[in-house]
Amino acid sequence: MEDSKKTSTKKIADYWNMRGETYSRSWQSLAKKRLSLMETDLVTNVIKNLSAGKKRPIRVLDIGIAIGRISEQILKCNVELYGTDISETMIKICQEKFRGNKEVKKFALHDVHNPIPSGWGTFDVVTAFRVIAYSPQWKKELRNIFDAMRPNGTFIFTFPNRYSSHWLSTHIIRRKLDGVTASLNELKKALYEAGFSHIQITGYSRLLDSFYDWADTKISSDMLFSFERLLEKLLGPTLFVRLFYIICQK
Ligand SMILES: C[S@@+](CC[C@H](N)C(=O)[O-])C[C@H]1O[C@@H](n2cnc3c(N)ncnc32)[C@H](O)[C@@H]1O
Repeated sequence: MEDSKKTSTKKIADYWNMRGETYSRSWQSLAKKRLSLMETDLVTNVIKNLSAGKKRPIRVLDIGIAIGRISEQILKCNVELYGTDISETMIKICQEKFRGNKEVKKFALHDVHNPIPSGWGTFDVVTAFRVIAYSPQWKKELRNIFDAMRPNGTFIFTFPNRYSSHWLSTHIIRRKLDGVTASLNELKKALYEAGFSHIQITGYSRLLDSFYDWADTKISSDMLFSFERLLEKLLGPTLFVRLFYIICQK
């Protein structure tokens, strides 16, 4: 591994090891819980459709499990779940949280820059919410994920939109973690190049994340979501959104 790549991987892992359980604070407010439900519904709807008429469990890989926000909902479906994270702390949190859950096959330390171990088999569904966002090598990450999927498998993930207020606030003003962004066309091109097809891209949130943290009452949360909906009507599904939500197939 080149030195610069090792350093940036270590930096990402160190950051998330430090965040650990405190990451749950990012999802505490009412508006954030509502947003979280919108995201997890995207995943559970796909799994439920795949499960219809099938007796066998759907094989799911959740990449970047963190505190298990996505995995927790996936585990309500008929699945065999594998989960990975670059942070040892996050893996320990999930191992503890889901201890004894028979649907969980493995939670393992893994960096998605590297191929997914072939011994885990291939997957019907792969999820990576808010994970493919940190490395300039994100196109390689897409290829690694493609290789780990079954033919016709579904990949659901988020990717930061370069043209959003959030990107301006986080990367230019606050200079937090280094991250990557793409325009809609760059993202589509990268997905086609990695081999994906049936690409559907929507988006959400044109307002700063802080508004979601503040909106902790029903009234403020309703106002926030109504305003987002109005912006969506005016600007369309992806223009200036903070995150692209992508569902595509192998
Ligand atoms: C913003 S959190 C998102 C967690 C979860 N997917 C969710 O949406 O709640 C990002 C997580 O991705 C993990 N991560 C970042 N880069 C990664 C990589 N290259 N390989 C695997 N996990 C990674 C981090 O350690 C962290 O736990």
